[in-house]
Amino acid sequence: MSSRGQRLIVVSNRLPVTLSRDGDGPWKIRHGAGGLVTALLPVLRDRGGTWIGWTGTSGDDGDLEVALAQATRDAGYALKPVALTAEEINNFYLGFSNEIVWPLFHDMHTLCNFRPEYWRTYLDVSRKYAEVVAANSDSVDFVWIHDYHLMHVASELRRLGSRARLGFFLHIPFPSLDIFVKLPWRFQLLRALLEYDLIGFQTLRDRRNFLQCVRTLVKEARVRGSGQVLAIDVNGHEVRVGSFPISIDFKTFVKNAMQPEVAAKVAEMKSLLPDRQLLLGVDRLDYTKGIPDRLESFRNALLRYPELHERITLIQVVVPSREDIPQYHALKTRIERLVGEINGQFTNPGGWVPIHYVFRSLARVDLLAYYHSAQIALVTPLKDGMNLVAKEFCTCSIEEDCVLILSEFAGAAAQLQRGALLVNPYDTEGVADAIHRAFTMPTTERRARMRRLRRAIGKQDIFWWVDSFLRAAIAKDLSDFPLPEDYVPRDEQLRDEVIPL
Ligand code: ADP
Ligand code: G6P
Repeated sequence: MSSRGQRLIVVSNRLPVTLSRDGDGPWKIRHGAGGLVTALLPVLRDRGGTWIGWTGTSGDDGDLEVALAQATRDAGYALKPVALTAEEINNFYLGFSNEIVWPLFHDMHTLCNFRPEYWRTYLDVSRKYAEVVAANSDSVDFVWIHDYHLMHVASELRRLGSRARLGFFLHIPFPSLDIFVKLPWRFQLLRALLEYDLIGFQTLRDRRNFLQCVRTLVKEARVRGSGQVLAIDVNGHEVRVGSFPISIDFKTFVKNAMQPEVAAKVAEMKSLLPDRQLLLGVDRLDYTKGIPDRLESFRNALLRYPELHERITLIQVVVPSREDIPQYHALKTRIERLVGEINGQFTNPGGWVPIHYVFRSLARVDLLAYYHSAQIALVTPLKDGMNLVAKEFCTCSIEEDCVLILSEFAGAAAQLQRGALLVNPYDTEGVADAIHRAFTMPTTERRARMRRLRRAIGKQDIFWWVDSFLRAAIAKDLSDFPLPEDYVPRDEQLRDEVIPL
């Protein structure tokens, strides 16, 4: 046993920093700005701890380890890199993680590339992560491992003899049994997950899918409890499973959205695009985000509701992502062809251009200005673990007069269904009707809906998320975690045609 208190060891595929250097010059290290980093760094500082992850580069870079140590010298926590070779990046990150688990868990099994060498490298790299974790933790620490790249790490840690408590949070959806069983390594992966002490999912639907897989594929597993956190007993080991919807740092977003630099950009955008409503889409370039279907829906709205012409502009921001995977390339070409076609069909030369397409990673201030300028957000993924863009847009709607159009297949729909206009992203006409409805929605209805959305997001922010996960890990009694008061069982929701859970 260590004389230290229980430290937190966070493990994610990537470290929460961006690294750059000019030639062989010194490394420049900048901390990421995401919600996860904002929420976890104070806990790490407070309890002391370590964040372990890949640097995003290939090869073993001694330099880098020293630079990371220097960058966090007085921070109260350490950053420890996991070095991956070019082959590991190819087979583990691009291959098993992003050409197998990512499409399969988003219900797109036809896009999977089930290559056996990907699985072998996934195991090898899981061991690599486990070795770095084992070298930097002891039995009293709590190790919190994140996301689909690292599902196998607990199993490797146990094999190395680690006795630390191990938590895992899956940021993406968990598929239904029918989809999951297509994975050639389904038994191994499921049993590896059951080596954790606590598993968190984004929604109750994901948790239900997981439990169904466990009940069917792991005969000796027994499920206990009925609340937000359940327990599975398997071979004398208790695994807790709960749903913990991730969120954002609500207060900081509000504060930042009101900064003068953002206001200046909003004013500039309004003067350049006057007398119209702005419809906003912000997504990584990813086939799960439903961007082509969304563009078709926008075209359908322009065809069926000519009163929208000149009065609405879609700003579609696409952030480059995973460019080494062929499907991502093909998607970019498809989106650009559609944008060209739709603009060619409706543009008024010298005047209205229906779609403004932005393909790059934006500075924070520009992203906030887009959120704050738009009247309607179009968040229509075909499947998404949560979708933080939906929450960020509502948070930045300080005047509460905007409308969120949200896919029923985004995890966020479980919490936001009562304020958003829910759509089926495959239903082009339905989405077009929602665009028209949002465009013509009276201010009183917009305000009532947006107030409800912002209240829900503010109440369950990222700090609430961290706190509920860590409490579930140590709680003596799982009845401290009841289901949400407004929880409606799935069958009743389907009957009422309100799908999200
Ligand atoms: P995913 O995790 O699948 O990309 P989310 O919507 O959950 O989808 O999260 C996307 C995150 O990326 C958000 O926190 C958002 O602020 C950030 N982001 C989106 N667009 C940009 C951009 N153009 N530049 C920088 N960050 C962005
Ligand atoms: C999703 C995943 C994250 C991942 C992010 C960016 O949000 O859940 O784990 O970090 O996409 O993807 P990338 O492949 O660039 O890390």
